[in-house]
Amino acid sequence: MSFPRKRPQFHAKKAAWQRPGPPPPKKRAAGSGEQGWDQVAGWYDKLVGDKGSDYHRNVILPAALRLLAPKPGEKILDLCCGQGVLIPHLLEAKVGRVTGVDASPRLIESAKARFQNDKRVELLVADACAPGPWADGSHDAAACIMAVHDVPDLPAMARQVAAAVKPGGRFVAIFMHPCFRIPQQAHWGWDEGRKLQYRRVDRYGVPQEIPIVTHPGQGGGDTTTFYHRPVGEVLTAFGQAGLAITVCEELFSHRRSQPGPRAKGENRAVKEFPVFLAISCVRLP
Ligand SMILES: C[S@@+](CC[C@H](N)C(=O)[O-])C[C@H]1O[C@@H](n2cnc3c(N)ncnc32)[C@H](O)[C@@H]1O
Repeated sequence: MSFPRKRPQFHAKKAAWQRPGPPPPKKRAAGSGEQGWDQVAGWYDKLVGDKGSDYHRNVILPAALRLLAPKPGEKILDLCCGQGVLIPHLLEAKVGRVTGVDASPRLIESAKARFQNDKRVELLVADACAPGPWADGSHDAAACIMAVHDVPDLPAMARQVAAAVKPGGRFVAIFMHPCFRIPQQAHWGWDEGRKLQYRRVDRYGVPQEIPIVTHPGQGGGDTTTFYHRPVGEVLTAFGQAGLAITVCEELFSHRRSQPGPRAKGENRAVKEFPVFLAISCVRLP
């Protein structure tokens, strides 16, 4: 995930897909994305904290909870849970059990440190794209927040989500908007004549693996991979897995510009171009 505008320390390396010609075949196996996230676990835990990033607090979590509508006593799966930002909100809704699954052992450790005394929370290190004990058809609902673009094999993850929830069970995913938020390939621009801010998209229609490097100035080189997929490919992955999409919502930033000559144009653009896409699904019988 690359949180929009909030990660100035992130710079993309020149990637293989930026060269002319068709994209090279994927080298990573499903689940190998966790190595990158494990390397940046400390940074990510600090960024998100106990209450979530700015975008979590103002846009992502309110939408996730509204769409998921967790009910008392329910058993909920939080897939790619990271350090557990969604979990306190599920507990507040008095759910009966939360299973948090993430491929990064260090992020699961952070989550365990937060919820170790709560018997309703189970936390597992596992690959969301491969069968596991959590994909057992026992969950009333599942969520996957800001991770659809972090898994290398989305159809495989969608199949595991479908396996994890009961027939008729719910699934909510929120992720970077595939049309407007493509790291290094989508940018803001300013049209001085029309005094408007526009969104420029340089590449969209071909899937891309975009390396995201943290702290490049500190000799780091810790890399996560952002898997851009055109929107049809994303939605089809869930539909083909038997997760019928009932709601597709575009989520907009809560941020507004400081007063100034461009404020009107910038604030207009913020209401025109969504940051995230949210889907709510029902598992077909
Ligand atoms: C941007 S973080 C989002 C975490 C959390 N849901 C949140 O909103 O803060 C993406 C997460 O996806 C996890 N992840 C990436 N690939 C995965 C895989 N194949 N299986 C399980 N988790 C994976 C990473 O470890 C990371 O915690």
